[in-house]
Amino acid sequence: MNYDIAVMAGDGTGPEVVAEGLKVLKAAAAKAGFSYKLTDYDFGGARYLRTGETLPDSAISELASHDAIVLGAIGHPDVKPGILEQGILLKARFALDLYINLRPVKLFPGVETPIKDKGPEDIDFVVVRENTEGLYANTGGYLKKGTKDEISTQVSVNTRLGVERCLRYAFDYASRADRHGKLTLVGKTNVLTYAWDLWWRAFNEIGDADYPNIKRDYAHVDATCMWFVKNPEWFDVIVTDNMFGDIITDLGAMIQGGMGVAAGGNINPGVTGMFEPIGGSAPKYTGQNVINPLAAIGAVGMMLDYLGEKQAALWIEEGIIDTIGKMKSLNAGQMGMGTDAVGDLVAKYVASK
Ligand code: IPM
Ligand code: MG
Repeated sequence: MNYDIAVMAGDGTGPEVVAEGLKVLKAAAAKAGFSYKLTDYDFGGARYLRTGETLPDSAISELASHDAIVLGAIGHPDVKPGILEQGILLKARFALDLYINLRPVKLFPGVETPIKDKGPEDIDFVVVRENTEGLYANTGGYLKKGTKDEISTQVSVNTRLGVERCLRYAFDYASRADRHGKLTLVGKTNVLTYAWDLWWRAFNEIGDADYPNIKRDYAHVDATCMWFVKNPEWFDVIVTDNMFGDIITDLGAMIQGGMGVAAGGNINPGVTGMFEPIGGSAPKYTGQNVINPLAAIGAVGMMLDYLGEKQAALWIEEGIIDTIGKMKSLNAGQMGMGTDAVGDLVAKYVASK
């Protein structure tokens, strides 16, 4: 196979961690016998400051033509918060219709979790977050803005199509050989009765009709936060809406050992996907060779899994686990080795397969 991959390394330490991810991609390609072509795009804070452009419409169709996109980090200390998040990250999700946000929460052996008495066998689940609707749909407005009678509304948009395609992806994911056949819907059926009634009905109708072998479960979002800490072993695959998914995956990243290892994918299945380390651009560490690239390497692994290169993805995960065993810490500046040395170790592991 030959893959066409767009690279948006972005700001701060983004380019450094992406370089390590691409180093591992090169090793994986050589071993697994696939080839690829990389195309760089310089969207991010620096370009915005230079040109005023975030993600121009002309770039959307170009990005969409690639099999996948590797994203480093977007965020610049000199750009007002919100501009790059909305103008690049959210714009890409919406314009490319990346309707799944896939976030594995997996505690690798050797990684410290803040959850007492829990280990890798307890913390291993995947969150499927709807990525184009809900409260992120930007529907709402003001009435009497700026007056003391001001009213603002922010509407959660849930379409049957959007909910159903997300649920089907999650059911399919729970059916994978490397999962355990359990899907938990995380919502708020007791209060948000319109949105979650739609989700609830679709969840059960699709499950009954097409996935009779998948065990269905339901948890309220607030209780889910409690279970993440108390009984994370209850979860296999979780499916939820955009806002709840945003919130619970930050908690998930913490129980899996922090931003140094957390990766995610924004996916339009069968069309394209954008894979990223979940952490930010960490500007204060830029250019020092101290940032942890494992999340970016994990994002490349997720991309290969998405592209169907399952064996290569597995090798990368093994390589990450092997490398963690050789690092002093996962924290920037305390790893006992440089950013590039971490990438070298994972690449070397993959090359040895
Ligand atoms: C995330 C982030 C984004 C989101 C922000 C940066 C817009 O928190 O990817 O989880 O809210 O989705
Ligand atoms: Mg978030």
